[in-house]
Amino acid sequence: MEFNRRNFIRSATLLAAMSLSEIENISAKQKIKTDGKLISDNDEVFWQNVRQLFPLTKDHIYLNNGTFGPSPYPVIEAVHSGMMEEDQDGNYGGWEAIVDKLAKFVGASGDEIALTHNVTEGINIACWGLPLKRGDEVILTTHEHIGNAAPWLCRQREDGIVIKAYTPAMTADETLNRISSLINKNTRAIATPHIPCTQGQVLPIKEICALAKEKGIYSIIDGAHGAGMMALDLHDIGCDTYASCFHKWMLGPKGTGFLYVKKDVQNIIRPYNVGGGSTEGDWDMTTTPIRSAEYTKSAHRYYGGTQSSGLCKGMIASIDFIETIGLNNIHRRIKDLGKYTQVRLLEFGDKVELLTPTEERSRCAVNGFRIKGVEYTKFHSICAENKIRIRSVSENGLNCLRVSTHIYNNKAEIDQLMDLIKKV
Ligand SMILES: Cc1ncc(COP(=O)(O)O)c(C=O)c1O
Repeated sequence: MEFNRRNFIRSATLLAAMSLSEIENISAKQKIKTDGKLISDNDEVFWQNVRQLFPLTKDHIYLNNGTFGPSPYPVIEAVHSGMMEEDQDGNYGGWEAIVDKLAKFVGASGDEIALTHNVTEGINIACWGLPLKRGDEVILTTHEHIGNAAPWLCRQREDGIVIKAYTPAMTADETLNRISSLINKNTRAIATPHIPCTQGQVLPIKEICALAKEKGIYSIIDGAHGAGMMALDLHDIGCDTYASCFHKWMLGPKGTGFLYVKKDVQNIIRPYNVGGGSTEGDWDMTTTPIRSAEYTKSAHRYYGGTQSSGLCKGMIASIDFIETIGLNNIHRRIKDLGKYTQVRLLEFGDKVELLTPTEERSRCAVNGFRIKGVEYTKFHSICAENKIRIRSVSENGLNCLRVSTHIYNNKAEIDQLMDLIKKV
């Protein structure tokens, strides 16, 4: 009796010390557990509970996940407690804990995963490590983000490689035709995004990698928008490398990413960012000749030195968060929001130009558009004044606007953007 009373008093004190929003969060965390069940993409009550777990302020509408994916509380709490533990006990290491879990999540094996800090770092490792000589050609798109453009452009300047660029088409088949037509005897690599940052076309990545394999060239994929937006099976996709991050669709800690390097190409792509963990065997600076070490027999050869175990805990928590809801449920919901955006944009007829394919397999959660007679930068500013965040796309003269939606968004928010378009 006494014991129960004491417990009751303790719980009551704890509850009294918690804010209402903390109590609501605990309850929302329970309500988003799906235990593998399918959730309807229109189950607004479920998705409202999901939204509850994001600290995003309610006084503005965030439609820019393509740049930056805000984390939910469980991820932020994991980073916080991970950093506290690290700083309280001074224990060193532990970041390797994410590798096998992540490998399983993306359909790879642990020895094919290198930890990075962002997509750009992964692309640089692959780009600078490939054995390319003057005159060798690499295929990119005219829709590159600077993170996939800069490394290849610099390699063009430094080493005389030649970049060829195709424009992603409105259908997967036409995109494949355009890539095929650029391949010749000098082509060494296709270094394409899976989903370009500009207009969010989902490119036929498996077929692109199969084409590369058939022609004996490398497939070096910029997967900034792959992980977390859809289920990935990198072995099935068949790419040689795939660079992605946790800070977009994975809703994980900022400044965390990974590079997948297929086992067969690890002896071809030369590591340059080496240090603790990248080599194995004895090395000794006092012997004559100096005794060197071998590269680690895994993708760990591509990263060396200290990482953050606090951020690693956050990465683990972001996979757990996604799996609690179910990646298939997330994918269906965000694809539905993407389709709703397209339907609403198409209602404007010839006043608005939808730039993203409507083809089922080529669309997902990112859409690009232009408003006839309205400068894209002007509309971007109008959105900012009205507390709606979208992205303006100035890359390669595309001069358009981009909307990207994740699970914390809903149709009412998309409607508010449409009302603003109607006004202008
Ligand atoms: C397609 C694409 N590639 C590369 C990047 C660069 O990503 P990060 O900032 O993680 O290096 C981005 C970022 O928006 C992107 O959209």
